[in-house]
Amino acid sequence: MPAPARLQLSVNGAVWDVAADADTPLLYVLRNDLGLNGPKFGCGLGECGACTVLLDDRPLRSCILPVAGAAGRQVTTLEGLASGGQLHPVQQAFIDEQAAQCGYCLNGMIMMAKALLDRNPAPSEAEIRQELKYNLCRCGTHIEILRAVALAAARMRGQE
Ligand code: FES
Repeated sequence: MPAPARLQLSVNGAVWDVAADADTPLLYVLRNDLGLNGPKFGCGLGECGACTVLLDDRPLRSCILPVAGAAGRQVTTLEGLASGGQLHPVQQAFIDEQAAQCGYCLNGMIMMAKALLDRNPAPSEAEIRQELKYNLCRCGTHIEILRAVALAAARMRGQE
């Protein structure tokens, strides 16, 4: 059996040396080696969105990305969104709108919403729905989630 490769990963602004087989899913390394449990294991097939992270600011399903594919790029997880002791406005809006029931999908919802608002500060409800439609929530807090993204957008534009 070949020895694991040594890789450098840049995650949430810090550089980590990890030893892992190159085809290990990024999600496993984030959770098991780096202790970053924001991204969740849902389906493991790239279908549910629970494992979403940002790779160079673009959302991506970390359960189907080999860790070697993240080397030399910037990975941002849910844990990397807060800064200066303050939650990111999207995180705060999800709390304020009580957009969680079991909470399992929220990592993906928040990461997708963050990426959307970075490129479109004033999305319509249809655009928010479109962005989130492949992220699965089985509890049914969809309305609160939509409200949270709209609230975050308004706050980020200084309109609330
Ligand atoms: Fe990655 Fe479901 S766990 S998409």
